Amino acid sequence: MLTVLGIETSCDETAASVVAGASPGPGRILSNVVASQFDAHRPYGGVVPEIAARAHAELIDSVVERALSDAGLGLSQLDGIAVTAGPGLVGGVAVGLTMGKALALASGKPLVALNHLEAHALTARLVDGVGYPYLLLLVSGGHCQLLICRGVGQFQRLGTTIDDAVGEAFDKAAKLLGLGFPGGPAVEKAACGGDPARYRLPRPMAGTEGYDFSFSGLKSAVRRHVEVTELTDEAIADLAASFQAAAVAALIDRTKAALCGPEVRAAGIKSLVVAGGVAANAALGGALRGLAEAHGVRLVVPPRGLCTDNAAMVAWAGIERLEAGLSDGLAAPARARWPLDARMAGIAGAKA
Ligand code: KG4
Ligand code: ZN
Repeated sequence: MLTVLGIETSCDETAASVVAGASPGPGRILSNVVASQFDAHRPYGGVVPEIAARAHAELIDSVVERALSDAGLGLSQLDGIAVTAGPGLVGGVAVGLTMGKALALASGKPLVALNHLEAHALTARLVDGVGYPYLLLLVSGGHCQLLICRGVGQFQRLGTTIDDAVGEAFDKAAKLLGLGFPGGPAVEKAACGGDPARYRLPRPMAGTEGYDFSFSGLKSAVRRHVEVTELTDEAIADLAASFQAAAVAALIDRTKAALCGPEVRAAGIKSLVVAGGVAANAALGGALRGLAEAHGVRLVVPPRGLCTDNAAMVAWAGIERLEAGLSDGLAAPARARWPLDARMAGIAGAKA
């Protein structure tokens, strides 16, 4: 059983958490502090990297201090320090990574410089103890991927987005509809009272070969409707509902293709896991439940607060890495791009 401090600063949440546990989980979250910067970015309608980096630098000390005091532990009682080292906005990543290195150096505890996507990918084990291998649908603001997770550092990417990530599409749709920032929860809320069948929007890539996603066409279709529609409350609700229905249908189509594909069947996969900020979407959760039932696999959806960026997932992934004998030196770099599947690392244009 290990106890690890996690630190997360790769986007617009400054977060720190202490988690105790052992593979395969579930783990025990002893503290979980998340300071969101929504207000700082709201006037710009999106995350501004320079503002994010500055806010992380201002918040990091107090967030880490609170995570330790909420857990009632000092540095000497930890088994290691895990920190997101990428992919993400590199100015923010550097703030967290520098803090992690400093704490590791001062305490003599091992440092784990983590891939943020691995932290999302392993969240289901933190909350559920799901066994490897599983099929992962990773849906966030920067990523939209289907992966087979076989173990720590062992990910096989089946498909990715060829343009926008699905969370990015939610954010852009929200902006077009005047729903503000962050867009995903705003679209979900607006869609609640809306008619998902009112506007015909494309289901990008549906029925095509392979497991890749595309969302830029869907976003453009929303823009075209916005240009010719009077945006009454009803029209906004119906457009939000129609967009959400199309985005969810696209995610379900690709996930279904993967569940039926030879890679998943050869791996003997019995669980479907969803991770990343968009996993907080209830319409997606409901649709995935139906898909999992139809295919006889177990579905694991982490609770909302552990789907969006947090440091408990970072601490947990740190526990799994330390258990596997993996740690990093103080020279570990901050990385803007860092694909989970090592085979993708050298491919030009491959999205992280
Ligand atoms: O994982 P995350 O917190 O940060 C990244 O690593 O990107 O994901 C943030 C993304 C944003 O695009 C946000 O709009 C989306 O997740 N999101 C949602 C919901 N909550 C957050 N999208 C749809 N429905 C939601 N309820
Ligand atoms: Zn994330």
